[in-house]
Amino acid sequence: MSKPFYITTPIYYPSNKLHIGHAYCTVATDVMARYKRLQGYDVMFLTGTDEHGQKIESKAAEAGVTPQQFVDDIVTGPRGVLDLWKLMDISYDRFIRTTDPYHVQAIQRIFRAMYDKGDIYKGTYVGKYCTPCESFWTDSQLKDGCCPDCGGSVQDAQEEAYFFRLSKYAKPIQDLLENTDFLQPRSRVHEMVNNFIKPGLEDLCVSRTSFTWGIPVDFDPGHVVYVWVDALFNYMTALGYQNDQYHDYETYWPADVHFVGKEIVRFHSIIWPAFCMSLGLPLPKKVYGHGWLLLDGGKMSKSKGNVVDPYILAERFGVDALRFFLLRTFPFGSDGSFSNEALIQTINVDLANDLGNLLSRTTAMVMKYFGGTLPPQRRADGADGELVALASSLRGRYEEQMEKFAFQNAIAQVFSVIQRANKYIDETAPWALGKDVAANGPRLASVLYNLLETARVCGVLLTPFMPGSMEKLLDQLGAGPECRTWDSAAVWGSLPAQVQVKRGENLFPRVDMEQALAQLERDRQAGAAPAEPQVELEPYLEQPVDFDTFCRSDLRAVKVKDCQAVKKSKKLLRFTLDDGSGTDRQILSGIAQYYQPEQLVGKTVAAILNLPPRRMMGLDSCGMLLSAVHKEDGEERLHLMLLDDAIPAGAKIC
Ligand code: MSP
Repeated sequence: MSKPFYITTPIYYPSNKLHIGHAYCTVATDVMARYKRLQGYDVMFLTGTDEHGQKIESKAAEAGVTPQQFVDDIVTGPRGVLDLWKLMDISYDRFIRTTDPYHVQAIQRIFRAMYDKGDIYKGTYVGKYCTPCESFWTDSQLKDGCCPDCGGSVQDAQEEAYFFRLSKYAKPIQDLLENTDFLQPRSRVHEMVNNFIKPGLEDLCVSRTSFTWGIPVDFDPGHVVYVWVDALFNYMTALGYQNDQYHDYETYWPADVHFVGKEIVRFHSIIWPAFCMSLGLPLPKKVYGHGWLLLDGGKMSKSKGNVVDPYILAERFGVDALRFFLLRTFPFGSDGSFSNEALIQTINVDLANDLGNLLSRTTAMVMKYFGGTLPPQRRADGADGELVALASSLRGRYEEQMEKFAFQNAIAQVFSVIQRANKYIDETAPWALGKDVAANGPRLASVLYNLLETARVCGVLLTPFMPGSMEKLLDQLGAGPECRTWDSAAVWGSLPAQVQVKRGENLFPRVDMEQALAQLERDRQAGAAPAEPQVELEPYLEQPVDFDTFCRSDLRAVKVKDCQAVKKSKKLLRFTLDDGSGTDRQILSGIAQYYQPEQLVGKTVAAILNLPPRRMMGLDSCGMLLSAVHKEDGEERLHLMLLDDAIPAGAKIC
């Protein structure tokens, strides 16, 4: 039986659509959950929505719908919370909504249990009242002494309420924070102790009577349970605590870690353990308070109009690139400044350049020199030692960082190996060995094997961050299921010696910074999801072509043996092609803006061969490669016509 691992995200207020800051914590939790699954744990990953409270009641009223309709739309509606997590590839095991009947009933039981123990008592809540809004406010909620909703004046007021004896738990909570690893990073401990515990913990108001959108206290129906009592216990009710919906409490509680944003660390590290202590329940093992993603130096918020829509970014740049960026760029425990420039830069440097190049260069050379399948190799050359040692020991260094939730450092470890591998290509110069494959075959094969193996180990360890793309990367490397496991990531030589690679799509195309920023700005101004690209087609030709004329075009499948950028030309690529005749053919094609040359080596493409030769930039082009062409948002786009690699060079297209 595998060991359980229980991890949670905060449950989100569906009062506004989620932004990239919300996605940050959920992506981090997903990465942790996937990492633990990879290690063989029996993972329970919980997320959900926190659907009660005055804010939601008033927003629903403004929108002219019931609170339930309001939250349903944001949670289950199009482009709602559930859709976003699907798009972001979030592999949660359970999703709780605090309006789920089993949770409502469990909270009523929990509230009563704390009342029966004497930890909840009835008292008077003293605050300010805004008559037009019918709302109670505490002094700290007021804006310049006035109602934060309507800006009007407020009067002193009192409301009957239940209180939780938080003050009783001050000492044990201080011990917990100061003398254990319960709250991380450690820097957050001082803040909690100095700002909240040392000045004196006051009892906490845990019921309200001035609004109704909450869970009723069943023994005093005018009261609804304070939203944080309702919310915090989700971590237990979702496992079946005090309800019959689920039966996993014994298996998964106590939680291994709650990931939470820094502003709600107080609720999770002071109030939550006090509730657990009151009921005599085991405490969660850890709370990790992560930093915020800042925009223009401040917090993202709808009222500031500066929120970033994760839908737009994921659709423009790919889900995995976005997931990777969030954890590669910002240290998890501290704040970080989000910018589109930083996102594009990360895609281009780490993904397109370092990782993408390692993959495409290596697989292209295996195709070019060995037709896709490595022959027997001469293993272990002295020059390989450093790369082999680095890649073989990578898992240990990565694990050390992951266990500390230091995602950025774990990724950095992987990328230092990727960069070393790219340097190894330059050092071993496989293209030079490839000039005489007959003589250098075993050494060349061993260099390429080392590169494939390094890319595999890195691919396995990056899988939690970029699950979809790493699956494709491992497919291209020819890695079977046994080469994708946690164990295999520490075993050099897991790939079979005669591994067969598969060329595939370019996983991380380079992004043109200027164009992409302009497009994002247009998306932002449109204020919504990216518009479908405006596609313009070439005009259809009315004039018929007779059959014989068409048949005189010699259309063939050709294989790309080599592809190079043409010096001083922004547009042209020079292809050396196998057209089946036994003699190489050279064709120039104006597609340099759309493809990296090495990405095309080994591909099977369509060409017309019997056009008269044309001279361009001092080079002869004997024929033309066929491309599909259209205009997108006013700009021409060419897509090379890629054919099935099973088609032999020279096959006639008719
Ligand atoms: N409903 C409560 C949590 C209850 S948990 C028992 C709540 N919801 S929230 O929707 O306001 O926030 C959810 C999470 O998103 C919080 O952890 C919060 O810190 C996080 N973030 C919101 N904006 C953020 C950033 N700009 N950056 C990083 N995380 C941010 O709080």
